Formats: sequence, structure tokens, C-alpha cells
Amino acid sequence: MTTTRINDIQLAYDDVGVGPAVVLIHGYPFNRSLWTEQTDALTSRFRVVTPDLRGFGESASGERDGSEGPVTMNRMAQDVAELMDHLGIEQAVIGGLSMGGYVALAFVKQFPSRVKALVLADTRAQADTEEGKQTRHQQAEKALSEGMAGIADAMLPKLLTPDTVSKRPEVVKRVRDMMLKTKPQGAASALLGMAERDDQSEFISTIRVPTMIVVGREDALTPLADSEKMQSKIAPSRLVVIENAGHVSNLEQTEQFNFALIRFLDRVFA
Ligand code: MLT
Repeated sequence: MTTTRINDIQLAYDDVGVGPAVVLIHGYPFNRSLWTEQTDALTSRFRVVTPDLRGFGESASGERDGSEGPVTMNRMAQDVAELMDHLGIEQAVIGGLSMGGYVALAFVKQFPSRVKALVLADTRAQADTEEGKQTRHQQAEKALSEGMAGIADAMLPKLLTPDTVSKRPEVVKRVRDMMLKTKPQGAASALLGMAERDDQSEFISTIRVPTMIVVGREDALTPLADSEKMQSKIAPSRLVVIENAGHVSNLEQTEQFNFALIRFLDRVFA
């Protein structure tokens, strides 16, 4: 792990492997360790960069983040762009899971020429509904007043399939531990930022780079229908459905996910 000053914060990241750059952006409320298995699978042929988004993992929060206000998806995307500047990476495959996908969309909107290809995993293009926004605000207050344990317990059954929850304690522990390590202030800022994110449903029809949309068949948070909508609008896209997986499809079915990711990257760089 390395940290560097990006904008107003110390940002933590891993940068491993040699080859075309692939930047993988974690979801909420996780950290860069979400991508360990994908990093391991790719580094013999790719340079894989996995940041901890501001306020997550080992990255700091900005002085004005947290209870004082949202961290927008645009802000997080700008951090990623600055990290790429710092690492001398002009263009990369940009991938994100869930909130990481919201950040990836904000990235391609702001910096289209820096995106070689996109991976949108278990995510969606729509903004939150009014009810969804209210829930985000309640969750942000809960994180700040009670910490992450309640949030983690409530989220777990929505993140993993019932089968994984009952039969794979090591996966449950891995996901739960990531959530418990998240700093409440970082979680709260991101929740407020997600609540005010742009609706990208129209924008995505302007995406011109190869895009892999991937989703767990049993994803309860960003269901298959959301991915199908994105696929119908992004012309150069393909949709991969991961069987026996929920929202954290890369962790629940690592082999299927990695197979799809490597096949996609092979096509992009053929
Ligand atoms: C995530 O996994 O990043 C979040 O569940 C996304 C969301 O809450 O919209």
C-alpha cells in the first residue's frame, strides 16, 4: 500500500503489475481489498490500480467532508483522475462495483478521453428516488451516531445470496469486516454524495468505449433489470450475468467474474 497527497487528502492505493492500466473502484461501504482476487488474476499482464476512495479504507477524509457535507461522485472521480496523473497513467480501463460504478460513470463523463474501456459491475445509471435520498440521510445520521455495526448487519442479507449467507461464513466475514473497518464519517459523506448524484440514464447513451456490464443474477440492491437498461443504452456494451451471486458478485463467484473480466480485457487489447 502507498499513500500520496491527492487534492486535499492522503489517498491510499495499490499499484501492482505491468501492462495496460486497469483502475478498479470499490463500492460502499468497502475498500480496495474488495478487488484482491481480481488484482491477483490480472497482474501478470496488466497494471492494476485500486484506490481507497476518500474517507474509506486507509484514505483520509477531507477536512470539510463527513458530517459537514457530501462527497460527490464527481469529487471521487476527480481524485481517481489525479491519482492517475500522479502515476503517469494517461488512459486506463475504469471499472467500478456499485458506488464504484457511479464513480466510474462520473469519471467517463468528466474525462472521456482517459477511458480506454469501462467495467460497470452491480451498479445502475439512475439517480436515487426521493425516498431513497431520505433513507441515505437517515443512514448517514445513523453511521455518525451509532457507528457501522448496525448498518453492516442490515446490509449483509442484501449484499449476498441467502445461500452464501448460510453456507459460506468466510465470505460473510470478509464482507462484514470490510464494512466494520469503514469510518462512519467516510460512510456518511459517501451516503450524502450518492443521494445527490446525477441521473446518468441519458448520458450513458453517449458512451463510445467498450463496456462490460456485469451483475449477479440475485443482486437485490442493483438488480439485473438495471443492468439490462444500461446495456440497451450503451451501444458498445455486453452484459454478463454471474450465476449464484448477489450484489458483491466479484467476491461471491470470483472464478466466473474473473473469467468474464479477462475475456473482456483480452478483446479490448486484442
Ligand atoms: C454499494 O454497494 O456501493 C452501494 O450499495 C450502492 C448503493 O447503495 O447505491
